Amino acid sequence: MSSSTITPWVVGNWKLNPMRADALQLIEEFKALLQQQSISPEHCHIGVAPTAIALTEVKAQLDDANRKIYTVAQDVSRIAGTGAYTGEVSAELLKDSQIEFVLIGHSERRELFGDNVEILKAKLQNALSAGLTVIYCIGESLEQREQGAAEQVVLQQICDIAAVVKAEQWQNIVVAYEPIWAIGTGKTASPADVQAMHAKIREGLKQITAFGADMAILYGGSVKAENAVELAACPDINGALVGGASLNAESFYQIAKAFAQSK
Ligand code: PGA
Repeated sequence: MSSSTITPWVVGNWKLNPMRADALQLIEEFKALLQQQSISPEHCHIGVAPTAIALTEVKAQLDDANRKIYTVAQDVSRIAGTGAYTGEVSAELLKDSQIEFVLIGHSERRELFGDNVEILKAKLQNALSAGLTVIYCIGESLEQREQGAAEQVVLQQICDIAAVVKAEQWQNIVVAYEPIWAIGTGKTASPADVQAMHAKIREGLKQITAFGADMAILYGGSVKAENAVELAACPDINGALVGGASLNAESFYQIAKAFAQSK
C-alpha cells in the first residue's frame, strides 16, 4: 500500500496506432470493462493519447464512458496561436477542441523528430499558457545508465524546463519517467530501481517548486498487467504511461485497476 495521497494516473500512449476502426473498438471494449466494474476517478485518473487525427472523435467516445477519461494529445506545436504554419497543431487549437492534456518530451519525439531543449521549452510554455496540463517525459538512454549518468540526465531534463515554468504552473505538470531502454523492449526497470529514481526526481522537484511533494511522477517502459501491481505498490510511483499494453483493453484496464487499488 502506498502512503502517498497523490491520486495515481494511468495514461495510454497509443503512438502511431491503431487504425480508426480498431481505435473505436478498443475504446468500446475498455468502456465495457468499466461498465462491469468501474474504477473510481478518486482512486485513479485515466487518460488516453490517440493520434492527432483521432483526438476529437476519441474524445467524444470517451466522454460517453461511465467515468471521466481524459483525452491527451501526443504532441503540440512550438508555435502558439494560429497562422501560416503548415502542418502544425497549436496548444490553443487543442484547448479550443476541449483537449486539456498533452505529452511533451517523449523520447521518440526527442530522438526521431528533433525535439531539442529549446523546442521543448517553447512547446511547454505554449501548452501551460493555453491552460493545458502537461505530461512531461524524461528518461535516460542505456548508454547513459551504463555510464552511471542516469540520475544526472534525468534531473537535468527537469532543470531544462524550470526557466520557462511559472511558479503556479508546476501544479499543471505531471512527470513521466521513461528510461529509453525500457520503452517497447519488454525490459522493465525493476520496481526498486524505478522507486529510487522517482525518489530522486521527487527531491529535485521539491527543490524547484512548492508543488514538488504533490506532483504525480509516472513510470513508463513496458508496463503491463503482470508488473503493474508491483510498480503501483512503490510510494513514489504515482501511475503509469503505458504504450504497447494500452492497445489491449483488458491489459490497460488491469493496469488502471492495479494503480487504483494501490491507494
Ligand atoms: P511501452 O511504451 O509501454 O510500449 O514500453 C511506453 C511509452 O513510450 O510511453
